[in-house]
Amino acid sequence: MEIPGCLMTIFGATGDLTHRKLIPALYQLQCQGLLPDDFSILAVGRRALTTRSYLEQIRQSAVKYSADFSSGVWNALENRIEYIRVDILNKDSFIRLAEIINKGRAESRYACNDMFYLAVAPEYFAPIVNGLDSIRLIDHTPADTSDDSKKWQRFVIEKPFGKDLASASELNRSLTSVIPEESIYRIDHYLAKEMIQNITMLRSRNTIFEPLWNHNYIDNIQISILERDGVGSRGGYYDNSGALRDMVQNHLLQIVAVLAMDLTPDNKAEQIRDEKVRLLSSLKIDFKSDPAPVVLGQYRSYRSEQHVTADSATETFAALKVSVDNERWQGVPFYLVTGKKLSAKAALVSVEFKKPAGSQQDDIPANLLQIGIQPQEGIHLKLNMKKPTVTDEMDVAEMEYCQSCYYDFNSPDSYEKLLLDVMLGDSTRFTRWDELRLSWKLTDDIAEYCNRNNILDLYDDDSAGPGSAVNMIKAYGRRWWHLDEGSNKPMPFFCRTDNRRRQ
Ligand SMILES: NC(=O)c1ccc[n+]([C@@H]2O[C@H](COP(=O)([O-])OP(=O)(O)OC[C@H]3O[C@@H](n4cnc5c(N)ncnc54)[C@H](OP(=O)(O)O)[C@@H]3O)[C@@H](O)[C@H]2O)c1
Repeated sequence: MEIPGCLMTIFGATGDLTHRKLIPALYQLQCQGLLPDDFSILAVGRRALTTRSYLEQIRQSAVKYSADFSSGVWNALENRIEYIRVDILNKDSFIRLAEIINKGRAESRYACNDMFYLAVAPEYFAPIVNGLDSIRLIDHTPADTSDDSKKWQRFVIEKPFGKDLASASELNRSLTSVIPEESIYRIDHYLAKEMIQNITMLRSRNTIFEPLWNHNYIDNIQISILERDGVGSRGGYYDNSGALRDMVQNHLLQIVAVLAMDLTPDNKAEQIRDEKVRLLSSLKIDFKSDPAPVVLGQYRSYRSEQHVTADSATETFAALKVSVDNERWQGVPFYLVTGKKLSAKAALVSVEFKKPAGSQQDDIPANLLQIGIQPQEGIHLKLNMKKPTVTDEMDVAEMEYCQSCYYDFNSPDSYEKLLLDVMLGDSTRFTRWDELRLSWKLTDDIAEYCNRNNILDLYDDDSAGPGSAVNMIKAYGRRWWHLDEGSNKPMPFFCRTDNRRRQ
């Protein structure tokens, strides 16, 4: 794999995301020898810092967020980094930025390819692109995605991409009036999580699942993303967003798309994204005849969090039932749940199979395939087996692949993979505008339904969420697979088998 060099210009280089995610990811790529010689980083922030003082700050983050810090690796990364002070809202700052980049290129210190990473608040996305355009740093010749040797410019855009369909469309219009869609890499870091990538592998590289991957054999699918933390210092952002916009619109709907889309003959980015668009366009919620398709909740201490309004009606929990209106998934509900300040942290997919034909409701437990996404990665499969006794008693065998225990190294963080993807021009794990437009439309419809019906239940901090979410799934004759059935307490995906390790 030949990785082309580039100049990575990070806007928001002094921010939380850069410290916690980008710098540790770059450090890991340096560690693995995956950064080419002609890879340089221009760290752009508003604060008055020198390159030296900036490096001291980010070194501390690299130490804090990297499992195995080595000064040698850090020194090699440090040599690639330069800090520059730019006020995104000031035109003169951009002129200085152009001088630095042009000088670096004239002296052959910078590669000709550009990765612009926009790790700033969304209101700055358009001003940055316009600012770069004003100093002629944007190349308007159409991107040639068929020729890897051609010079490229790629723009990585962080979430949130808008706060509803109207604002996302407006943001998209302003970006694409300057840069083409093919150059925009919209981040949804869940798409780069190991076990999300593994879903496609599991479906396409085994013959035992795909023939069953439809309404004939699957009863329902659940996607649960549970967080222990509250909003912490992000109350100002979160209070204008909430669980629907912060989690459902992007991560949860993207996971539904990856799980339910038709597989493509080869793994070409545009084909995969076309399939995801087809799937997202067939997602439906029955607001008319379904008595409770959505539950929203708020944890009790939320309104006393920093930067949260005292009478806030922002939801910190959402549970919903979505269906896919196509032949494969006719009648199969997809239950999505996410929440903050819950008593467990886990991200989990549960695929519940139908019971064998002719079986009574309760005499045979459902086969269950669970995919643990985080914190523990792995796969769990429940099968019904004969107990080794003289009677014909049945027992449930739990078969498990605990990836987190099996490999003796940490699986790569999403940002390592995503940065590499951008350098390689692989947009598979980034969201295309038509995917985003569809998911915003659905999210707007859900939000509108909830507003109209005043849906918001309080739930205790460190609990399983509002009781109405349990009642909701019970009303459909089912149970949440992330909750223990007896106690209704979160039951995180965990490793129950051995601890064999592979080097
Ligand atoms: N943090 C996360 O875990 C996380 C997760 C997912 C997505 N995101 C997204 O990532 C983006 C960045 O988030 P963050 O948490 O890193 O935000 P943050 O900590 O508030 O950092 C914001 C950055 O923007 C810079 N900035 C603000 N105004 C500027 C201006 N006028 N000119 C130049 N630079 C300016 C700040 O520079 P100074 O500090 O020098 O003022 C700082 O580097 C946001 O879109 C956020 O939604 C963040």
